[in-house]
Amino acid sequence: MKKKLAVLLAGTMVMASLVGCGGDAPAETSAPAEEAPAEEAPAEAAPEAEAEEEAPAEDAEADADAEAPAASGETISVGFAQVGHESDWRAANTQNYQDTFSAENGYELAFVDADNDNAVQLEAVRGFIQQEVDYICIAPIETAGWDTVLQEAQDAGIPVLIVDRSVDADPSLYETQIGCDMVAEGETAANWLGEYLDGAEAKILVIEGSVGASATLGRTEGFNNIAASHSEWEILDSQSGDFTQAGGQEVMESFIKSYSDFNVVVCQNDNEAYGAMDAMDAAGITYGVDGDVIIISFDATHDGLQYTLDGKINCNVECNPLQAEFAADVIQKLQAGEAVDAVTVVKDEAFVAPGIESQYAVTMTQEVLDGRAY
Ligand code: AHR
Repeated sequence: MKKKLAVLLAGTMVMASLVGCGGDAPAETSAPAEEAPAEEAPAEAAPEAEAEEEAPAEDAEADADAEAPAASGETISVGFAQVGHESDWRAANTQNYQDTFSAENGYELAFVDADNDNAVQLEAVRGFIQQEVDYICIAPIETAGWDTVLQEAQDAGIPVLIVDRSVDADPSLYETQIGCDMVAEGETAANWLGEYLDGAEAKILVIEGSVGASATLGRTEGFNNIAASHSEWEILDSQSGDFTQAGGQEVMESFIKSYSDFNVVVCQNDNEAYGAMDAMDAAGITYGVDGDVIIISFDATHDGLQYTLDGKINCNVECNPLQAEFAADVIQKLQAGEAVDAVTVVKDEAFVAPGIESQYAVTMTQEVLDGRAY
C-alpha cells in the first residue's frame, strides 16, 4: 500500500511553463518504452503500474483515474535525489523542480541534495522507498551502480524517473530518462571549433566535469568524435574540475604550470570556465575573442552568456536545466495509465560571442541574454 497523504488539493494541475531560449524548444522523444517496469512489478505494485500491466488501454485509464491522486484530489508525492549544488546550472535545475512540484501544483516534493556523494544519493533513494512516495526522480551523480537500488524501488512498486543525466542500468528498472543529449553537446562544441579555426592548429586543454557523470562522459565523447577528424588538433591534457568554479581554477592553474603553449581551453560547464578565467587572469594570459586563448564552455546559464556577450567566452553550448515539466508530464501520463516515452531529449542550442557567425550557434545579443530565465 502506498502512503496516504494528508493534504488534499482540489482543482486541475497547473504546470510551470518552460521559458527562455532553451525552454522554447520542444523536446524530442523516442519511441514509447517497450519494457515497462510495471511488467515486472510484484504483487504490492502501485495501482497505476498494475493497471498498465493487466488492462487494455481504455480500462487502464479508467482504473488509473479511479485511484490517481491528482484525479481524486490527493497530493502526489515525489522524492527527488538531486546531484548537489555544484553549479549555477544545478541551482536553476533545483529551483525548476521546486517550482514545478509545488504544493500549489498538487505535489509534495521530498528533496535531497546529495552534495555529489554517491552514498548519500543511494541512501536518499532508499529513504524515499521507505517513505512510500508515489514517484522517485533521480539525477544520478554517476552512471554506474544503480541496478540494486532501482530493483528495490521496482520491488516496492514505485516508478522511477532518471532525470538530467543517464545511468547504465537495465532500462526495465525505470520508467523513463529525461535530459539533454550530452554527446551532441560535445559534438556541437567541436564542430564550432573546427568552423572557427578553419584548418588552423589547435592545442587543446580540457577541464572535464565530475568523473563518471554522463554529462562528462557524453561531452568528452562528442568532442573527441569530431576531434578525431582534425589531425591539426592536439588534446594536450584532460582533467576533472568537478563542475565547480574552484575545481576549474585549480585545474587551470596546474595546466598553466605544465603547458606554455596552448590556444584552446574547453570547460565542461560555466562554473569551471569562471575558475579557468580567474587562473588565466592571475597568470596574465588573455582569452576570448580579443585574446590568445579560445574558451569553450557548456551550460549557457545567464552569467555564462553574459561572459559570451562580453566576448570572454567564445562559444557556450547550452544544457537546458528547465526539465521538471517533462518529468511532471511523465508522472501525469503514468497517473492516467498512459504509456510514456523511454527517453525524452531536452533540446538545447549553442551561442557565440558577438562578431562570430556560425552555422552551429546563435550570435549573442543583449536581447538573447535578457530572454534567459536562468
Ligand atoms: O548534468 C548537467 C551538468 O551538471 C551541468 O553541465 C553542470 O553544470 C552540472 O553540474
